[in-house]
Amino acid sequence: MTAPKADTTTAEPDTEALRERALASLTTARDRTTLLTTCVEEAELVAQHSPLMSPLVWDLAHIGNQEELWLLRTVGGREAMRPEIDGLYDAFEHPRSERPSLPLLPPAEARRYAAEVRGRVMDLLAAADFRGTRLTEAGFAFGMIAQHEQQHDETMLITHQLRTGPPALTAPDPEPGPPFTGPAEVLVPGGPFTMGTSGEPWALDNERPAHPREVAPFWIDTTPVTNAAYQEFVEDGGYDTERWWAPEGWAHIRRHGITAPLFWHRDGEHWLRRRFGATEVVAPDEPVLHVCWYEADAYARWAGRRLPTEAEWEKAARHDPATGRSRRYPWGDADPAPEHANLGQRHLGPAPAGSYPAGESPLGIRQLIGDVWEWTASDFLPYPGFRAFPYKEYSEVFFGSEYKVLRGGSFAVDPVACRGTFRNWDYPIRRQIFSGFRTARSESL
Ligand code: AVJ
Ligand code: FE
Repeated sequence: MTAPKADTTTAEPDTEALRERALASLTTARDRTTLLTTCVEEAELVAQHSPLMSPLVWDLAHIGNQEELWLLRTVGGREAMRPEIDGLYDAFEHPRSERPSLPLLPPAEARRYAAEVRGRVMDLLAAADFRGTRLTEAGFAFGMIAQHEQQHDETMLITHQLRTGPPALTAPDPEPGPPFTGPAEVLVPGGPFTMGTSGEPWALDNERPAHPREVAPFWIDTTPVTNAAYQEFVEDGGYDTERWWAPEGWAHIRRHGITAPLFWHRDGEHWLRRRFGATEVVAPDEPVLHVCWYEADAYARWAGRRLPTEAEWEKAARHDPATGRSRRYPWGDADPAPEHANLGQRHLGPAPAGSYPAGESPLGIRQLIGDVWEWTASDFLPYPGFRAFPYKEYSEVFFGSEYKVLRGGSFAVDPVACRGTFRNWDYPIRRQIFSGFRTARSESL
């Protein structure tokens, strides 16, 4: 058995390259934020489209407020621009359901505030030398804030999906690729691999540090579970059969009358779905979307399988059997390009299962990155040696058995906020998020 190689440290890019990368990441995020907050009427920005979500105008000013807090005040040492609004945009002071009744900045003022913060950040960035503290080193704080804005851009896209009314957003469908002819599952060899990262400059605290993990051999699906496969579970009475369900999951679907993924409804013979204001037939070859952890878990049990653990998922996505090294992405160490994965809201849904041959892992596993967030079997827990940085409220306060980990990112997340090591988490009942899954089984079965 070969020991895993040490986590690779990315060679230190020069100051101008870091400045370029920070600028490009912040600009891409702001362009997306602008689109998501200008494509609907002002009344729709202040409305609450679901008690699960903030009004879009809250996300907008919260994005600006976090940027002011971390870049202007903490890194730049500036005075607060509007200290009286900090409380309104502190996610821990007010739950989402309360946010519409707060005296929020109206749309024009929220826009002006976010733009003013950004203007001053541009001055700060122009003069930054990316040295000194852990926060400034390699432009971490700029990267953290670009990732934060992109995370809210995904959140805002979820709000758009929950809103009713005619479509406000459009995007081309993914280009059809050659049909996938690979096997349905592959065997990932057992043994240690390096999980997490210490050297990835913009990795967030919960992805750190790199550490060895022993994983027993297991089989994993080469693609996410499709709508066609999931429909078989539905048609087989999956939602009426208690034995497939975790007890809390069974109680939850009974209490809420859940009989299919969110946004699906039956029309005679067909399943239809509502997607960003349009109703269409559920596409059989696409990864299933908008299922909660309990639904993913029940499907897997029905199929005689199980969800992969988080460590199994990451080994499948990063372990290179030829070298024993953990890579940044399934395809290697190169930053994501359009041919690798469906990321960044280029499309408003997942591509057919088996797409993106250029993004496959050494073992032939596809779409680990992009398309749909994948539920794992695992609770959201710290890695050995975890240290909260730069604030406990990003990850640490969420660690425990209440949350399940999702991996790999969706079509809605930008590459800056998606890596082989990136960890997302949510309650096991949540399904308004862009969530799907793939299944696994132990080799010994
Ligand atoms: C990592 C997606 C769970 O939306 O709660 C945004 C991201 N943290 N602002 C969330 C986040 C602070 C977070 N998730
Ligand atoms: Fe936030």
